Amino acid sequence: MEDWSHCLDVAVQIALRAGQVVQSAVKQEKQVSSKSTPTDLVTETDHQVEELIISTLREKYPTHRFIGEESSAAGVKCELTDDPTWIIDPIDGTCNFVHSFPMVAVSIGFAVRKELELGVIYHCFDGTLYTARKGHGAFCNGVRLQVSKEKDVSKALILTEIGAKRDPATLDIFLGNMKKLLSAPTHGVRIIGSSTLALCHIASGAAEAYYQYGLHCWDIAAAAVIIREAGGHVMDTTGGPLDLMSRRVVAAGTREIADCVVKQLQPINYGRDDTDPDDLA
Ligand code: IPD
Ligand code: CA
Ligand code: CA
Ligand code: CA
Repeated sequence: MEDWSHCLDVAVQIALRAGQVVQSAVKQEKQVSSKSTPTDLVTETDHQVEELIISTLREKYPTHRFIGEESSAAGVKCELTDDPTWIIDPIDGTCNFVHSFPMVAVSIGFAVRKELELGVIYHCFDGTLYTARKGHGAFCNGVRLQVSKEKDVSKALILTEIGAKRDPATLDIFLGNMKKLLSAPTHGVRIIGSSTLALCHIASGAAEAYYQYGLHCWDIAAAAVIIREAGGHVMDTTGGPLDLMSRRVVAAGTREIADCVVKQLQPINYGRDDTDPDDLA
């Protein structure tokens, strides 16, 4: 088995540098524009941070491939091959960043032969650093992470996020899913505006489950390694194996809670990351 620890060290250094760029930009006036829909925001900092991360990694690893949210939006093919591939969300929580709502992260994942090998997520507001390497555990600021061991869904706190589709029919399904989970019953359902940080809360045991339709491979790549290394489960919303490009996920501390969430969900259909470049919200 190849040792990717040098890649983890490099990813941590770059995530910290990227985080500093985001931290100083949050206090400045922002250039905000929209992409696929009026609520799909992007700022010059999203572009700047992605450029910083990819150019630094490319210099270190010239043969590696890259998938990044803003490069994909600009037309670079979103393709996961067997080659070592970095999967980057330069700012996760752009809407939060625009409002200075303190839930914003830099997310860097790395896959080889389509297997996720490592993940680094940096919370830009409170400086929390989540890291994991396959087979070597997950950590928050160097302290080992452990998912919640709760098996009873009636004692679960559930997290979700709203995808890009906001038409009435999609929102009805979205609200229907929340209603079913609230009345399962569970302790509650939360939306924080950052998929990657919500997933980190599953890894740390602060919440029991997460589900979302409409996220992208860069929202889940790093977090999936962190959750699995913290002892948790990451899967498709049907309960089958996770497909990074499928734009849907369920994650949970225990298989029992994951199965309960899966049973409640009515699907929302999104195009795939690797075949539907027009829907890269
Ligand atoms: C978005 C956020 C949001 C989630 C969306 C993501 P972005 O990422 O994580 O919470 O609902 O699905 O696309 O665009 O801010 O990187
Ligand atoms: Ca994101
Ligand atoms: Ca983003
Ligand atoms: Ca975005």
